[in-house]
Amino acid sequence: MKNILNALWIKSAKPSGDCEIYYTKEFASGKELVSASLEVTALGVYTVHINGERVGNNILAPGWTSYRNRLQVDTHDVTSMIKNDNKIVLAVAPGWKIQNYKNQQKGDPELGGRETAAIAALTLEYADGEKRIIATGGDWTTEKGNDVYSSFYNGYVYNHAYKDINPSKAVVINHDKKCLIDREGEKVVEQERLKPKEIIITPKGETVLDFGQNMTGYVEFKIKGNKGERAVISHAEVLDAEGNFYTDNLRSAKAQAIFICDGEEHIHKSKHNFFGFRYIRLENWSDEVKKENFTAIVVHSELKRTGYFECSDERINKLFSNVIWGQKSNFLDVPTDCPQRDERLGWTGDAQVFIKTASYNFDVEKFFLKWLGDLRADQTDWGTIPHIIPNAFSPDNDCSAAWADAATICPWQLYLTYANKDILKESLECMKNYLEHIEEFSDNGLWSRSWHFGDWLNLDGSSPEDCSKGTDKTLIATAYYIYSTQILIKSMEMWGEDASEYIAKREKSILAFRKAFMKDGRIIPEKATQTACVLAVHFGISDNIPETAKQLNELVTECGHLKTGFVGTPYLLHALSDNGYAETAYSLLLREEYPSWLFSVKMGATTIWEHWDSMREDGSMWSTSMNSFNHYAYGSVADWMYGDAAGIKIDESKPAFEHIIFAPLTDSRLTYVKASIEARNGAVKSEWKTENGKTTYIFTVPEGSTATVILAGESTEIGAGVTEIIK
Ligand code: BGC
Repeated sequence: MKNILNALWIKSAKPSGDCEIYYTKEFASGKELVSASLEVTALGVYTVHINGERVGNNILAPGWTSYRNRLQVDTHDVTSMIKNDNKIVLAVAPGWKIQNYKNQQKGDPELGGRETAAIAALTLEYADGEKRIIATGGDWTTEKGNDVYSSFYNGYVYNHAYKDINPSKAVVINHDKKCLIDREGEKVVEQERLKPKEIIITPKGETVLDFGQNMTGYVEFKIKGNKGERAVISHAEVLDAEGNFYTDNLRSAKAQAIFICDGEEHIHKSKHNFFGFRYIRLENWSDEVKKENFTAIVVHSELKRTGYFECSDERINKLFSNVIWGQKSNFLDVPTDCPQRDERLGWTGDAQVFIKTASYNFDVEKFFLKWLGDLRADQTDWGTIPHIIPNAFSPDNDCSAAWADAATICPWQLYLTYANKDILKESLECMKNYLEHIEEFSDNGLWSRSWHFGDWLNLDGSSPEDCSKGTDKTLIATAYYIYSTQILIKSMEMWGEDASEYIAKREKSILAFRKAFMKDGRIIPEKATQTACVLAVHFGISDNIPETAKQLNELVTECGHLKTGFVGTPYLLHALSDNGYAETAYSLLLREEYPSWLFSVKMGATTIWEHWDSMREDGSMWSTSMNSFNHYAYGSVADWMYGDAAGIKIDESKPAFEHIIFAPLTDSRLTYVKASIEARNGAVKSEWKTENGKTTYIFTVPEGSTATVILAGESTEIGAGVTEIIK
């Protein structure tokens, strides 16, 4: 990024907050050209065409960052596109910049509130050494584009015949350029293409296409409607109990793609929008509806797939596939809670819960480094971490345990999976400021005076009216404080800093936790929930971990199922199987009745649900107030599938699988399990199969790595290559 700093920010003379704006410039190249490169970004989302040809393949650029602090610039080599006479068209739509977020921040004053803007510099280098820069400025033309309406939540209206009859000169604005940074994150690009599985006429008589997979993206369709006709595509994740198209869970998001026909045949797809859906409903469709005229295009950040899991139970394989699709659907530039309703936000809690699984499934290092840059940028001066990153809400004092802890847990996971030590260093100050904030709201080591989301959506007491009721919030908060402090201590020591102050603070909180919530190694009866035990065990807080784990096992076996929400679920199976209760952990994983992971599979889910009962046995739904069928949080169970069922574990002292610990847990209800993770050194694989009372284990260690195999308490060291052990 260099010449864009000399360009001027421009905006449209007309209101731009809910439509697409084209910024155009015509120029002659003049003489023999050596190279042409375009640096471009926007407040909004943009696409660029030079002489009718699309520049780059990334969509929804520049992505979503903390726009006030960080705005990514893409640089494209466009040498081959430049002719003698040229026209550059930069189309900008509202995107993430303008959205009806609840409690949203005030618009940028220099933009006059809800408006989009653009900045670009095209550098032309000639054979004779001359250099020319075509930069955005007051000489560019602006006009309204064919997306006459555009909003992420509501969708768009595309009018093919629309032509702004009143173009005008761009308005130069004095927007800051200090926020401009080179692209840090992965590009968002089109991925798979899915054909409809079925055309359904619902009991209400609606024409619905089923793509067979809940996903994020948009539909490409062929259409030839009568002039002026508004063909409407609506998007939905599920059909209701009667089999009708169901959109109540999208809340205020209309999520429609509307195409205004001009009598000609067109193949059309969205340029600046995305939807979360499996089904589409067609209205005002005068063409015959044929499957071949529709393709769903899956859209997400360009991430390399690294993790695979398979076992002898097809239901678990489907669950794993649902986890993968949950990640694809929600890793669209930022890790989001869900892709469909009027939310689609970078909820910190969801991200930290899922990051371990995410980092095994796909290479998410770059993706999270960018997001953590935004987390640090959006941290408040008083140390709080906003609930969503990038923060579109007004900063406030709330700082919820397990959400804000993304500030420690996410950098730590990047260290574990990718041996990225630098991110720990970069995060030290943010972690310290966050933990200092907690101390201000603590009493004698207990984090007791903040507002929290609690064990969100648990089954101990949460309801649509209060999803956070259940496990004691001070207990959860103090446990997370202890855990985050531990991460800070390890990170400081890794970078040669003296952490004794934090060691003492952690000790103090551990003692306070035990005093307030534990007796004889057990969580006291009035606070005893599965989640409380999980945290005391998994975060190493209990002074008698075997006893607390036993209590957890009792709580699970007594009721026969899990009751955990966002906080307890990611560690539930670990807390059990790490302490001798692998059979109970497997029973939870293999359970099919509500509540369980497989209940959604039984109900036909193709992604992970937000609630254990997003849809009930009879097809009725959890409250419309908050019900997503594509929420990856509970998909965090896959890290247990890799790490315990298949037994591929990271050694903290030699991260990124430089030293691997293989400790697979067999279970008589499965006959085989196999998993692989493409690590920095190469593929790490673990497989076991049982036959005639014997189990064969096959471990693959990549060149440059070593491993310890732990089977029934016995350790064996193995080196690179494939090792087979029969027991
Ligand atoms: C989101 C969650 C998020 C939560 C905060 C919800 O609306 O969808 O996943 O973490 O709010 O508790």
